[in-house]
Amino acid sequence: MSGLSRVAVSRYVTPLREGGSLPGIVEAEDLGTYVCKFRGAGQGLRVLVAEVVVAELARRVGLRTPRLVVLDLDEELARYEADEEVQDLLRASVGANLGVDFLPGSFGFDGTLPSGSGPDEAARVLWLDAFTANVDRSWRNPNLLVWHDDLWVIDHGASLYFHHGWPGGSLERAGAAERFAQQPWNVDDHVLHEHLDRLAAVDEAVRAELGADDLPEVLAQVPDEWLEPVPGARTPAEVRAAYVELLTARLATRAWLPTAVGGAR
Ligand SMILES: Nc1ncnc2c1ncn2[C@@H]1O[C@H](COP(=O)(O)OP(=O)(O)O)[C@@H](O)[C@H]1O
Ligand SMILES: [Mg+2]
Repeated sequence: MSGLSRVAVSRYVTPLREGGSLPGIVEAEDLGTYVCKFRGAGQGLRVLVAEVVVAELARRVGLRTPRLVVLDLDEELARYEADEEVQDLLRASVGANLGVDFLPGSFGFDGTLPSGSGPDEAARVLWLDAFTANVDRSWRNPNLLVWHDDLWVIDHGASLYFHHGWPGGSLERAGAAERFAQQPWNVDDHVLHEHLDRLAAVDEAVRAELGADDLPEVLAQVPDEWLEPVPGARTPAEVRAAYVELLTARLATRAWLPTAVGGAR
């Protein structure tokens, strides 16, 4: 059962050439325009799970991120696509895909925080990325958009890397949660690393804001179809519980929190 609303894709508009995950712009039957992250793009469904989990966490720690929907793609749509490469992608993506509300007129972060966003918000982005072990917010690839003078976080598929080991049985090996809880996170390449001095204060604030229900609620947003069975977690409910367990264990420590002077880096 998913908390995200579902809408059918009505038209494939254009590929987004910048992205490594072959995202495309689509229109949907709610008349919305979405960046579509395709289930058939080759990176697997776990990338879509990470997108939803981290975007929902982002909202809960006070960051802006575009609204997400599940985009249902019908095979009819692939049939009418002229471009062969796109046709293959659409064919491989029949079913539930991820839609990210398109922010028209947004532009990429250039290093200057927009007027609507202060250093506290920048440190919240650092906190989110450290907590979820996101390695994809570097200078080369900030995955931050500026829209109406505010900062928006996007593209969280490279977070929660631990789940890529699940098909190989890593969840069943003793200490899976503790391994993730202790895994350090390196801030050096982060596009907002200069705001590290605020991270400890933001860490206190975020921990006071996040409640015990937040992690299960975040996981409840992920549609069942993307929660594939793995050794140690066979049903969507068990897979959700595994994410909640690992994230809860990480939240219980600060081992992963980089500090301004030394500490875990
Ligand atoms: N919701 C959005 N609104 C406007 N532009 C977007 C949105 N999402 C992504 N983009 C643009 O598309 C690019 C690729 O999307 P991204 O989510 O980063 O995918 P990838 O995983 O392929 O890097 C982004 O760098 C940004 O320029
Ligand atoms: Mg990106």
